[in-house]
Amino acid sequence: MRLLQRANGATASTIMRIPIRLLIAIPTVIGALAPILLLLTNYWPSTRHHTDSRLLVTSFSDGNRVGLQTGDADVKVTSAPVSPEWWRNHLKINCRKLGYNGNRNFSKTLLQNIIVDDRHKAMYCLIPKVASTTWRRIFLLLSGYASVENITSILPNEIYDKSNKYLKRLSVYTKEEIEYRVDNYFKFVFVREPYERLLSAFRNKFLVNTNSSSYFKGRFGKKIIKNYRFEPESDPDGNGVKFSEFVDYLLDKKRKIAMNEHWETFYKMCAPCKIKYDFVGKMESMLSDTDFVLSQISPEIKFHLPSRTELRYSHNKTSDFMKDFYRQLSRHSIFKLYQMYRNDFLLFNYSIPLEILNILSENSTHSLEKIISKNEIIDYV
Ligand SMILES: *[C@@H]1O[C@H](CO)[C@@H](O)[C@H](O)[C@H]1NC(C)=O
Ligand SMILES: *[C@@H]1O[C@H](CO)[C@@H](O)[C@H](O)[C@H]1NC(C)=O
Ligand SMILES: *[C@@H]1O[C@H](CO)[C@@H](O)[C@H](O)[C@H]1NC(C)=O
Ligand SMILES: *[C@@H]1O[C@H](CO)[C@@H](O)[C@H](O)[C@H]1NC(C)=O
Ligand SMILES: *[C@@H]1O[C@H](CO)[C@@H](O)[C@H](O)[C@H]1NC(C)=O
Ligand SMILES: *[C@@H]1O[C@H](CO)[C@@H](O)[C@H](O)[C@H]1NC(C)=O
Repeated sequence: MRLLQRANGATASTIMRIPIRLLIAIPTVIGALAPILLLLTNYWPSTRHHTDSRLLVTSFSDGNRVGLQTGDADVKVTSAPVSPEWWRNHLKINCRKLGYNGNRNFSKTLLQNIIVDDRHKAMYCLIPKVASTTWRRIFLLLSGYASVENITSILPNEIYDKSNKYLKRLSVYTKEEIEYRVDNYFKFVFVREPYERLLSAFRNKFLVNTNSSSYFKGRFGKKIIKNYRFEPESDPDGNGVKFSEFVDYLLDKKRKIAMNEHWETFYKMCAPCKIKYDFVGKMESMLSDTDFVLSQISPEIKFHLPSRTELRYSHNKTSDFMKDFYRQLSRHSIFKLYQMYRNDFLLFNYSIPLEILNILSENSTHSLEKIISKNEIIDYV
């Protein structure tokens, strides 16, 4: 336990020593420089200098880590990507562990979640907010709808519309065509640590005021407050949902409010046992992983640099808020969430983040070493 705290402390103090303003300034500066860099390089060379590419691609990401990756020792930006062989083997072993029987009954939702590019024989299972804007753009490029010259002129809002219109979903093919693609194409997915993803979704859809969040507050917030607040209130706009109420909704086995793709398990959305993915990219190593996938499916691609607009994402990292928000939950709820997302942890090789382990170890009589060594907290509920 002491070891854990030390690790955590070291990370925190390393981050604190880098002035926050500087970290926030980095993407802005890059954004301002992007047009110039663009003129100088004119494309995203495949043998570019590592530091440069990291900065440039960072500013193109659509996650909450934008701008902090370069300074954050925790983020494995420089790590070599895990090989497809490793992922195929890992998924195979763990799917067997979960009792997957080999059936290929692809649900309609699954087929709709997968984007296909026949020219490059590639398929991508789209999970919202996990590098999805970036990948929508790349697939628009691959499909030939946009060119490297004009890809960045498509604004983020338009991307959804355009990519929905121009990108092919696996659901449009016949059964035989689907099977052929599943067997022969390069298949990949991008995922994110489940606890952090959940908090990111909550903050993004219920705490801020955007067009998207007003939809979510109306569609989910109102009902969550009505059903999971101790003294039910009715708020016509669905404002003020608490994290604990959101989690109570998720954990309700008899929940009447539908799930949503922003918090549905990756397992359900992308069926990693039925679709044998060749590669799993991670938000935590998005830069090298994106790079790797591109090198696999389209080594010739010369990619444009991000536009200024891309950079307007929140500079606050979700991981900075993990402690504050998960502390609002009971230990029991944290355990239950692990159970709920257990397949995602297992199949995508995530372990429980330090922030969560530290909370669990608070006031606890259980030995944390035991929890960690087993990477299995179910027994401690
Ligand atoms: C395939 O899945 C659907 C929906 O989950 C189910 O209704 C159907 O019985 C399944 N078919 C087979 C052959 O397993
Ligand atoms: C981008 O360029 C391609 C190829 O030159 C063209 O077909 C397409 O219409 C352009 N798209 C936009 C959004 O301007
Ligand atoms: C939000 O919705 C309003 C009203 O529909 C619209 O005018 C505005 O452009 C939207 N903003 C964004 C960022 O989509
Ligand atoms: C993000 O961080 C800045 C600076 O620390 C802070 O002023 C701002 O309120 C934060 N934004 C959110 C949405 O928490
Ligand atoms: C998988 O997870 C384990 C345990 O956290 C870790 O030691 C290992 O490096 C991970 N492997 C890969 C390839 O990510
Ligand atoms: C630990 O105890 C403190 C003081 O009673 C309390 O505020 C905190 O919520 C507890 N932590 C957990 C994880 O239960």
